[in-house]
Amino acid sequence: IRRLAISTGGGDAPGLNAVIRATVSAATRRGWECVGIRDGYNGLLLPERYPQGGLVALTHERVRGIAHLGGTILGTTNKGNPFQFPVRQPDGSLRETDRSDELLAAFAREGIDALVTVGGDGSLAIAHELGRKGLRVVGVPKTIDNDLDKTVTTFGFDTAVSFATECLDRLHSTAESHQRIMVVEVMGRYAGWIALHAGIAGGAHAILLPEIPFDLAGVVAKVRNRDALGRMYSIVVVAEGAFPRAGERALMAPAEAGHAERLGGMGEQVARELARATGKDARVVVLGHLLRGGSPTAFDRLAALRFGAAAVRALESGLSGVMVSLAFPNVEYVPLAEVAGRMKGVPLDGDTLQTARDLGIALGD
Ligand code: F6P
Repeated sequence: IRRLAISTGGGDAPGLNAVIRATVSAATRRGWECVGIRDGYNGLLLPERYPQGGLVALTHERVRGIAHLGGTILGTTNKGNPFQFPVRQPDGSLRETDRSDELLAAFAREGIDALVTVGGDGSLAIAHELGRKGLRVVGVPKTIDNDLDKTVTTFGFDTAVSFATECLDRLHSTAESHQRIMVVEVMGRYAGWIALHAGIAGGAHAILLPEIPFDLAGVVAKVRNRDALGRMYSIVVVAEGAFPRAGERALMAPAEAGHAERLGGMGEQVARELARATGKDARVVVLGHLLRGGSPTAFDRLAALRFGAAAVRALESGLSGVMVSLAFPNVEYVPLAEVAGRMKGVPLDGDTLQTARDLGIALGD
């Protein structure tokens, strides 16, 4: 390999810069030149947007001291799928156009002979398709949501869970002082990983997940039961993708079954319903993008550094069309074909969910 490109796509996650750092270090050590593509593939597909060039020279010097920083020095976008690229039409509307051949031509023109792409399910599906068209590509799994299959975990998740847990810790005292119900909405898309893990770690009394369509009666009972025991406050964690069972859907009018283009608002609705049903004061806190910001935890930093180095080793050994995956205690490689388009929710028979039950946390079922 002479010239390796790196791209970061989809929502940002703490650890992206650590992947870039490790990839560049491992690659330059092997004598490969590295370039970063700005904003997903936009640096190559929309060069007019980048007067200083759509590619960033990634020297060892450029990536020094970035491993602990949040975000991505390359920028990212979730509107840059080269197979469905939004192209402005003469009438001003946007039409999705397949620009993948142009992208491959741009790689060839720039002398790029391999790609490490860091992203979630969308970016990895794109990587799979580019690989099928002949590009040498290795994917690195990223998302705070932890909803990717075939890897024990993604980087970004631990940071999100740690921060959400700290927030829950802080909310206990204010909730208790005011004898309130505190509803905390967390990200996670259609999966409840962040809600479940942070909810358990942060001592929540109820956790609502997309994997278990909820009935608020169980949560109301939990709150009343706590009140009866003199524990006059309750903390309820709501995953943004959680949704009520069919019977309550009309009442709560969530985005249809939680599967709207944009999620959010469920915490607000749950707080309103709980206040109505219990007569208690309820407040909602939406953690949202705070979960994506800040420095990666040591766990995420290490995972990201291992992933970046492993991606380079994969390319060196001739692998392509694979994703680096964490399979404790080591990293492994799995075909992108086995990952593309697959989502991993919280397993209903897993011990973490069982732990929540054993701790007496209401799950709305
Ligand atoms: O996938 C990561 C994530 O943060 C989800 O948890 C959330 O639903 C989504 O991205 C929000 O994306 P954005 O606000 O960047 O469009």
